[in-house]
Amino acid sequence: MPFDAFRYAHARRNEVAWLSQNTNHLVPPDVVRGALEEAIRERRYEGYPYAPGDPELLELVVHDLGLSGLVPFLTAGGTESLYMITRALLGAGDEVIASDPSYLIIHRFVELSGARTKNLDIYAPPYRLTADRVREAIGPKTKMILLIDPLNPLGSGYPREEVRALAEIAHDHRLLLLNDVTYRDFSDRPTLAAEFAPESTVTVWSVSKNCGLAGLRIGGFLGPADRVKALARFNTNDLGVNVLAQVAATAALRTKARWFPEVKRQTRENGARVRATVDAVPGATLPVYPSQANMMVIDIARLGLSPEAVQQELLERHGVFVRAGNYLSPAHGQKFVRVSFSNPPADLDRFARAFPEAIRALSARAPTPTA
Ligand SMILES: Cc1ncc(COP(=O)(O)O)c(C=O)c1O
Repeated sequence: MPFDAFRYAHARRNEVAWLSQNTNHLVPPDVVRGALEEAIRERRYEGYPYAPGDPELLELVVHDLGLSGLVPFLTAGGTESLYMITRALLGAGDEVIASDPSYLIIHRFVELSGARTKNLDIYAPPYRLTADRVREAIGPKTKMILLIDPLNPLGSGYPREEVRALAEIAHDHRLLLLNDVTYRDFSDRPTLAAEFAPESTVTVWSVSKNCGLAGLRIGGFLGPADRVKALARFNTNDLGVNVLAQVAATAALRTKARWFPEVKRQTRENGARVRATVDAVPGATLPVYPSQANMMVIDIARLGLSPEAVQQELLERHGVFVRAGNYLSPAHGQKFVRVSFSNPPADLDRFARAFPEAIRALSARAPTPTA
């Protein structure tokens, strides 16, 4: 039986430094605790939520993104939005311009619709799509551009002018722009494509990462009214999104301006810690630094070690959970592990001790690399 890292880690979740899923463990717990406790005391979970979503939450979402005039829709995490959008807007034979590496779950959803992704290789500077390459890649079957900004797993962010250029391409070629902004708050200069091409863009947002609510499974999308109506036909959560998740998201978004700057500051400081750790391991490199999100790729190709072996060694011997790259890149997944770092500094201390030790131990066991 292959090693099941998630099963292993979940069984020891109180002992593991969870640097594997870009989750956020820095939000002060009292941001949502009071609201959740009250909702539980009132036993709100016994009834269905108001199906279209808590009006205050919907308003907060629009305000948070600064996209008034567009219509918000709640789903069970950004993931459900991505599923609905690809299902509703793509058909057999359609093509989606995307990247490799990428958040491949979206690519899988594209394929479920009978469409395919055209993955532009971005594992070289500037480690993101460019308007020129996207323009070149457009063909007769192209229907959509997938713009994940900042990008999981590399942490690359898009300059404002590039977002504008991509939005203009979508508009001029009558393409849909799927703008996944899950990590937007971690970026220095977040830019939303909807600002430039509101009619062509569907914006997918999440509170999993910025608000530290991944386990509650709530997110959504935003778009022009007619498009949202068309997408809503594919809604599976007809009776509404988890009521406790809505309560928590409302409490978090109401107060985010107060506590998020400290989350971001600590995340950046932790990123610098990862960099110092990686710099001290000859052969290991960071393709993108600083990350505009809360994760980075550590390239270990020159070490001749498999990312799965590094993942397992770090988890089993050191209780540090990072993610092997194969889940994020068909072409380059054997070259890297991904580490996320919206975590308490103690988790980064463990990573700083464990990473060099794990690499040393594995290198001592492995045959010497030839290249
Ligand atoms: C780019 C991207 N989009 C969407 C998601 C899913 O987010 P959610 O937890 O809101 O479903 C993730 C999760 O890692 C992600 O990296």
